[in-house]
Amino acid sequence: MRSHEAGALHGQAGTRGPEWLREPDDVNTIVPQLWSANVSKVDGVLTVAGEPATDLAQEFGTPLYVVDEDDFRSRARAFKAAFPDADVFYAGKAFLCVATARWIAEEGLNLDVCTGGELAVALRAGFPPARIGHHGNNKSVAELRRALEVGVGRIVIDSFEEIERLGALTAELGLRAPVMVRVTAGVEAHTHEYISTSHEDQKFGFSISDGAALAAVRRVLDTDGLDFLGLHSHIGSQIFVSDGFEVAARRVLRLHAQIARELGVTAPELDLGGGFGIAYTTQDDPRPAEDLGREIVKIVTDECGALGVDVPHLSIEPGRAIAGPSTFTLYEVGTTKAVGLDGGGSRLYVSVDGGMSDNIRPALYGADYSCTLASRESEARPVLARVVGKHCESGDIVVKSEFLPGDIAAGDLLAVPGTGAYCRSLANNYNHVPRAAVVAVRDGEARLVLRRETEDDLLRLDVE
Ligand code: LLP
Repeated sequence: MRSHEAGALHGQAGTRGPEWLREPDDVNTIVPQLWSANVSKVDGVLTVAGEPATDLAQEFGTPLYVVDEDDFRSRARAFKAAFPDADVFYAGKAFLCVATARWIAEEGLNLDVCTGGELAVALRAGFPPARIGHHGNNKSVAELRRALEVGVGRIVIDSFEEIERLGALTAELGLRAPVMVRVTAGVEAHTHEYISTSHEDQKFGFSISDGAALAAVRRVLDTDGLDFLGLHSHIGSQIFVSDGFEVAARRVLRLHAQIARELGVTAPELDLGGGFGIAYTTQDDPRPAEDLGREIVKIVTDECGALGVDVPHLSIEPGRAIAGPSTFTLYEVGTTKAVGLDGGGSRLYVSVDGGMSDNIRPALYGADYSCTLASRESEARPVLARVVGKHCESGDIVVKSEFLPGDIAAGDLLAVPGTGAYCRSLANNYNHVPRAAVVAVRDGEARLVLRRETEDDLLRLDVE
């Protein structure tokens, strides 16, 4: 047994940090591509759309998710402009609340939901049901019934049971169900296994290679009450290379052509899902939406030409690429600790007032983030730091490796960019920590869009 479990074996490259991390020339500056468009530093204070982080922390408390509303909206618009002939569905799972649903509606995008809860938020926001797509590999009968009753624009079918359930429900309700069939193209997306969805051995969709996808389409066509719109394929998340999309799109289009040939039906639509990567750290180099649009449309057009089929109406479903970069999380530092490393040197552990309850991605996917001192300028030398949360678990890491000013201390504010997607939406109450608030900032005005949970909210759940 090792005598020192928390030693260098578990750490990362001693005091130098990982290979990709560069010591900054000036630790007070930010790396612009990691932050939303309206963020800058003014005399060392992080400022978003005219609002200093110090004021936000004072008014709303910490931890706090701070959304740059114009940035969120402009990324939504960029996808719409990049795919002018397609429908863009914002994947609500990335971050959905009444405010973001309204922004999406106002910017003319459609919306994806994958549970009754997400649908409820969309409806509360007044989102037009016809512009909503309903996903989910195990939608309940109650969820399907509600989707039909409110008139969602499409239900993405994920199992044979669901085809039967929809057939029964449409007969009972006297309604028709517009459906797409989710297929898996057998593509290994180069991303974390848990967010990769188009290889064969996982729970989503019908496999193209074993014939299940064609059989599902046949079953849909044979089921009264269902209108077959087309195929749906999502290969995974936080993906950068377009090769994966290309291979998946080709395979799906070949199936599209086979359906036309063998079943005599030309599906009007094709959905290629989301998954477009963003920059969490300087390791990541995402492509602008317009490049993605140009390439994806070309792949589809070329392949349809080669197959001799009409180009179907396209849709895509970006979530992370719209919500992610728009937001940073603001924390207050509580304690700092220099921890000696095996082989010499030390690492500065900086504890903040949140952690894996507001961002579980480092623990769940080994995700890397960056951060900056947000409340003042510092003259101190940069030191390699690890930002950790307040939860009772050593995996409670917020930023694994970052250079921070050596004089960072209790009371300082730290900001972590790129937390708009899958952070608040995956937030949890581990250790009975209430979930953090979300504030939207626009034109120098800050507006609370999700209030902070309170201890009372948590205590209310106990049945005594
Ligand atoms: N469409 C479908 C059918 C999806 O399943 C997803 C994500 C998206 C679109 C949106 O993908 P995006 O563009 O946001 O990458 N919790 C994980 C991500 C799970 C993604 C699940 N599906 C994370 O924190 O990385």
